Amino acid sequence: MLKIAVLVSGGGTNLQALIDSERAGALGPGKIVKVIASRAGVYALERAEKAGIPTSVIARRDFTDAADYGRALIDELHACGAQLIVLAGFLSILGEEVIRAFPNRIINIHPALIPSFCGKGYYGLKVHEAALEKGVKVTGATVHFVNEIPDGGAIILQKAVPVEEGDTPERLQKRVMEQAEWQLLPQAVRLFCEGKIKVTGNITHITEG
Ligand code: GRF
Repeated sequence: MLKIAVLVSGGGTNLQALIDSERAGALGPGKIVKVIASRAGVYALERAEKAGIPTSVIARRDFTDAADYGRALIDELHACGAQLIVLAGFLSILGEEVIRAFPNRIINIHPALIPSFCGKGYYGLKVHEAALEKGVKVTGATVHFVNEIPDGGAIILQKAVPVEEGDTPERLQKRVMEQAEWQLLPQAVRLFCEGKIKVTGNITHITEG
């Protein structure tokens, strides 16, 4: 078994895709052992509780500084034995101490084709607003390792999604979630748990057999 902790901040649709995949035996040896929310009351916590997964809330605003917040996250992740940390709609910034504690063991789902529409300030609907503003005809989603640069870690999987005439940010977000995010994240988690992702520098090599 490979223990997975999932960090969330909102509705938890990506978490739900992981829960459903695990239930269907599609995460390989991966098992979600903890869900940590960046704030109380988010629906992702209800999804975890319904699935019988232990939860906790670790809110940045409850700590005087980023270092204390980082230490609290690291302690909680070590306590549940997390071997893979998945950021699934997680909106808090992970400090360098957290990233250094789990090198190439933290993955994130970003709702665009990195390096487009990513980095500081690009999250949630803002990503799709920027894509529509730019007039791109294709967008998509990216799963990548997390390093100290926002959305800068090695890319694991990407999937393209068409932009359609008359798309609103909400409609585009829904299509990217349905056609890309909810497929890519479980697939990337399975590949990691099966030891099929090798990282050389900032490039991944996937040995899907
Ligand atoms: C969505 O914008 C998703 O693209 C991004 O985080 C947001 C919330 O996702 N990864 P979720 O429904 O909480 O998984």
